Amino acid sequence: MAVIVLLGAPGAGKGTQAPVIADHLGVPILGSGDLLRAAVAAGTSLGREADAYMSRGQLVPDATIVRVFLDRLEQADATSGAVLDGFPRTRVQAEALDTALAEAGRRVDRAVLVDVPTEELISRMANRRICTANGHVYNLASNPPEQPGVCDLDGSELVQREDDREETVRARMQQQIPPLLDVVDHYRRNAVLATVDGRLPIEAVSEAVIAALTPADEAAR
Ligand code: AP5
Repeated sequence: MAVIVLLGAPGAGKGTQAPVIADHLGVPILGSGDLLRAAVAAGTSLGREADAYMSRGQLVPDATIVRVFLDRLEQADATSGAVLDGFPRTRVQAEALDTALAEAGRRVDRAVLVDVPTEELISRMANRRICTANGHVYNLASNPPEQPGVCDLDGSELVQREDDREETVRARMQQQIPPLLDVVDHYRRNAVLATVDGRLPIEAVSEAVIAALTPADEAAR
């Protein structure tokens, strides 16, 4: 059993690295952004509420995301562990996660921070494309698809995310990096934090992320 938290600023590469960890440990990925985007696409009341915040680059209120995310974490496929991509994003969320895991006799085994300077993140977001079927992540500069506009893995159309427009990206950085630093501090104090250099090429970041998991890897066995 392993619960891994993947931390990083918007665009740091969490969505790129989450499948690498999930494959390595044989656990599902629980992505808070994916959960919220699915709710927006489905037009649910959660989706309508979330959309108002996401389109402005703001965090969805803690009470809402904590409820939705912890419900997801309780589902059967996550009992053997999970990679948490995008949650927690504030100290309140991190404490709520600790409480919920402790009630189930679990804990966060490792928090991996993918660290990238803000200037590099802005240009990454401009070049990001995601597939419409499964959210596979590409980058026109660093990780292009073989055929322009088409996902290598499932053949679906590649699109730019609504919140990847430059002004929204800048708002996301301004609003979301300070609470991220609180969460990093929380896991540093809990002695489960590992930091990897997210400026390296994608494969090198993957190697560093896997190396950073070793204690959690043992916990999974
Ligand atoms: P979410 O979907 O979680 O977005 P995010 O955290 O802003 O992260 P991103 O998905 O933008 O980036 P990433 O780190 O996954 O990078 P990626 O791998 O794609 O959240 C969206 C919104 O939902 C939030 O803004 C908020 O409103 C709301 N929300 C979500 N969770 C919430 C929560 N817990 N509380 C409140 N609100 C919440 O990579 C980026 C690009 O870089 C790609 O093109 C990729 O190919 C490329 N790339 C990756 N690695 C490298 C590398 N090493 N070198 C060069 N290029 C690279």
